[in-house]
Amino acid sequence: MNRLTLILALAATPALADPDPKALKRLVRQDCGSCHGMTLKGGLGPDIRPASLAHYRRDDLTDVILDGLPGTPMPPWRPLLSKDEAAWIADYLLEGDPE
Ligand code: HEC
Repeated sequence: MNRLTLILALAATPALADPDPKALKRLVRQDCGSCHGMTLKGGLGPDIRPASLAHYRRDDLTDVILDGLPGTPMPPWRPLLSKDEAAWIADYLLEGDPE
């Protein structure tokens, strides 16, 4: 495998790629938003804006995103997200979107 092929192979592997903020923001708005509301202030799922999540530590929030909340409609995202990506989303939710 030459160097370029290796780089392309790594880039195509979600677990090894760096979190892509643009793609993750879109996922939060569209996928999380489908239950938590477009502006994340609640729908089928509860408000997940920063003030509502203030009691969470970053690691616990990352676990909720990766594993979901069993027995509730909150699904696990482990099949779709790497740990780094889930941690990125946890930070994003805790800090809020500056835009
Ligand atoms: C199919 C609907 C659905 C989707 C999609 C969904 N959630 Fe949830 N989520 C829920 C529900 C319902 C709950 C509340 C579970 C309960 O009863 O405690 C919840 C709970 C949560 C909580 C805990 C809130 C708290 O106050 O403890 C967090 C954090 C959360 N979701 C984040 C996310 C993120 C981030 C995404 C996208 C990656 C997402 N959710 C996608 C339905 C969903």
